[in-house]
Amino acid sequence: MNNISAAITAVGAYVPEFRLTNKVLETMVDTNDEWITTRTGIKERRILKDKDKGTSYLAIQAAKDLIEKKNLDPAEIDLVLLGTATPDLPVASTAVYVASEIGAVNAFAYDIQAACSNFLYGMSTAARYIESGKYKKVLLIGADKMSSIIDYTDRTTCIIFGDGAGAVLFEPNEEGYGLQDEFLRSDGKGRQFLKIEAGGSLMPPSEETVKNNLHFVYQDGKSVFKFAVSNMADVAAKIMERNDLQNDDVQWLVPHQANKRIIDATANRMGVESEKVMMNIQRYGNTTSATLPLLLADYEKQLKKGDNLIFAAFGGGFTWGSIYLTWAYDSN
Ligand code: UT7
Repeated sequence: MNNISAAITAVGAYVPEFRLTNKVLETMVDTNDEWITTRTGIKERRILKDKDKGTSYLAIQAAKDLIEKKNLDPAEIDLVLLGTATPDLPVASTAVYVASEIGAVNAFAYDIQAACSNFLYGMSTAARYIESGKYKKVLLIGADKMSSIIDYTDRTTCIIFGDGAGAVLFEPNEEGYGLQDEFLRSDGKGRQFLKIEAGGSLMPPSEETVKNNLHFVYQDGKSVFKFAVSNMADVAAKIMERNDLQNDDVQWLVPHQANKRIIDATANRMGVESEKVMMNIQRYGNTTSATLPLLLADYEKQLKKGDNLIFAAFGGGFTWGSIYLTWAYDSN
């Protein structure tokens, strides 16, 4: 029997300095702080202002933060996975560039694209490589420059998204810590509700698509909200049930940060008290692939070896799921 589990052994993060506050958004579109706060929980988001920097910049900073904290030799990394909905370039994998820039000279690398579930699905992928016994160090990064695909005249989307990146290192663990179980789902019926209409093979870029603003994120928020609330809560509850976890057994819920109301509904359904719910949506908004690792970075000091964490995410596609992981180290 395979006794290797895939444990997270280090965390890194990066957010750009510029803060786009609700107050500033009030001057850009017809909205107000009260609406944004009560409907989403968001107060501000970070924006990468530099025009010549893409998602790779965010990813590299997060990876370097991890490498420095862990005192890791990047040449020891076997694989770099990058979850992103905003690659630097179409076709050329952003992960490959990131791996080279951080000195992961012995690694192979590729991108994962499952919208807001990127990091969750990436955890599953990373774990399989570790559990195979062939790979010892897998760096999983979630990074998005959402500001590059947001229309800042569209009040239904520009108030939600922000830029950021987070990274974790997966290593083999023989004490049983790490990823315990996962329940991942997808449903192609969802793609009409959250998408960028043009720029892909279905509708290549043209003068027309640019004129019609079709290269920005379109979201039917109400429909996505409905699916997100029920599906995220369902999978989180299911993973608790099939692992015999009562609410007292769960130390932390680590939910994708799309909307505070979705997070509260998931916690409620699981019977998990609000003190156990990781939350930073008020500071970063929805950073798509980066929400989960940014939470781990913010809460790392409070995490203890043996803590049971339930991750849950929901995103475009639709894609969603939940992962049960036990924390492998004390941070202080
Ligand atoms: O991470 C990937 C998955 N994404 C999600 O999970 C996002 C899910 N959706 C949501 O979080 C929410 O649907 C939103 C935050 C996007 C919108 O909140 P809502 O409570 O669903 O609002 P709504 O779309 O039902 O709009 C209610 C009203 C509308 O006005 P009327 O038609 O009632 O007059 C909107 O036009 O609020 C209006 N509205 C706004 N008002 C002020 C929409 N956006 C804004 C705004 N400021 N920014």
